[in-house]
Amino acid sequence: MTEQNRTNDTSRISISAHYTGYVWYHHQLSADEFATSAGRWAYRILTPINAILKRLAGANIDTFLLQRHLVIDHQVEQLITQHGVTQIIELAAGLSPRGYRFSQKYPQLTYIETDLPGMVERKQQVLASLPVTDTHRVVRCNILQQEGEESLAAVFKQLDPLQPTLVISEGLVNYFELPIIRSVWQRLAKHLQNFPVGVYVTDLYPDLQEHPSYRYVQWAQKLVGFFTRGQWPLHYRSDTDIEQGFQQDGFAHVTVLNPSQLYDSVNIPHSKTPSLVRIICAQR
Ligand SMILES: C[S@@+](CC[C@H](N)C(=O)[O-])C[C@H]1O[C@@H](n2cnc3c(N)ncnc32)[C@H](O)[C@@H]1O
Repeated sequence: MTEQNRTNDTSRISISAHYTGYVWYHHQLSADEFATSAGRWAYRILTPINAILKRLAGANIDTFLLQRHLVIDHQVEQLITQHGVTQIIELAAGLSPRGYRFSQKYPQLTYIETDLPGMVERKQQVLASLPVTDTHRVVRCNILQQEGEESLAAVFKQLDPLQPTLVISEGLVNYFELPIIRSVWQRLAKHLQNFPVGVYVTDLYPDLQEHPSYRYVQWAQKLVGFFTRGQWPLHYRSDTDIEQGFQQDGFAHVTVLNPSQLYDSVNIPHSKTPSLVRIICAQR
């Protein structure tokens, strides 16, 4: 294995997809096929921690996972129905049912789910037992790969440059140090320039040091780090910093959504304290 391949090998993170996949299943957002025994096991282990967090902080891990998942879904729905998006690339899709759900609802969509090879194989097995559309597929893509068959560029080559296009990532960006993920965002922004509409939607956990639940976030960082054998850094100190960062990375129009401000318009679980997660909608 070359040095480059070694640093680009982040497959240790894939275990986290079993957990989030099980959360979507547990909350009736997914079909039985998406739940794995590893996910069920992780969910059981974390049940007492979730209960303590709920009592102490007024929200648990599921609360913020569901907030991010449902706000992203809401954005995707709007981009399809109001902005004519017909092509979607979902990066690091893991065991998320989103590609399946949206392709069933909007069969005209080209929906390309991507992930690392092991997870792609797993997802293909899941989808093989479900009625998927002809234009819904799962392919390999390592976001750190600058070129070659598993690069972002190779996935973009599969799209029609004349169609409004959306890229989604969920539960991915906080596994990387900011300069590394920013270089991915810069490459994404360049690719999205080639489409009549080019949008990127992602979740992001900022470093909200003044937040009343900050110490629980630090617990969560340790927990995620333990399970995935790595770091889980928080990015940017405020919504304004996020907006400026994305603009510097090549996105002209950036909206930072705080789920706490969407309780009236999106059906999501409420947290007692302000939300800890943000959804970014960035356009070229
Ligand atoms: C927390 S899971 C999120 C899965 C899914 N998006 C969700 O929200 O349920 C993180 C995902 O990132 C994928 N991943 C890790 N490193 C990656 C990389 N370098 N390129 C692409 N995907 C990667 C993992 O395989 C895993 O599926």
